[in-house]
Amino acid sequence: TRILVLHGPNLNLLGTREPDVYGRTTLADIHSAMDARARAAGVIVESFQSNHEGQLIDRIQAAAVEAIDYIIINPAGYSHTSVALRDALAAVAIPYVEVHLSNIHARESFRHHSYFSDRAIGVICGLGAYGYMAALEFALTQLRKS
Ligand code: DQA
Repeated sequence: TRILVLHGPNLNLLGTREPDVYGRTTLADIHSAMDARARAAGVIVESFQSNHEGQLIDRIQAAAVEAIDYIIINPAGYSHTSVALRDALAAVAIPYVEVHLSNIHARESFRHHSYFSDRAIGVICGLGAYGYMAALEFALTQLRKS
């Protein structure tokens, strides 16, 4: 069983990027916490961050070939702009949970709409780095059922 965690642009800067909005936890911290939790459940968790839309699309297309069972995705800025990334997820038809560290609904109005939410199994926002762990816990429960 394999779960792919995708991080969009600027999330490589987590820890130092607007810490009042995104917290002080780094992407490496998030990955190691998710990895430890998944391992304990006998599941492989793979993380991929890119600042490039096409690379994220290529990673999603590859996920279908690699038989990835579940995706956890924070599309970051692409949440509000990318039809192409949305289309890639629809094409591979792998269930996904959308995560945002910040509460996008409490911020600028251009962040209120996400191209990913209506097709997501669920959306978590505003819980900071914990949101990824909540998404992982949910995915593990779903995968155990199937
Ligand atoms: C974000 C919210 C987006 O609006 C923003 O562009 C990001 C991060 C979040 O995790 O809160 O880069 O997805």
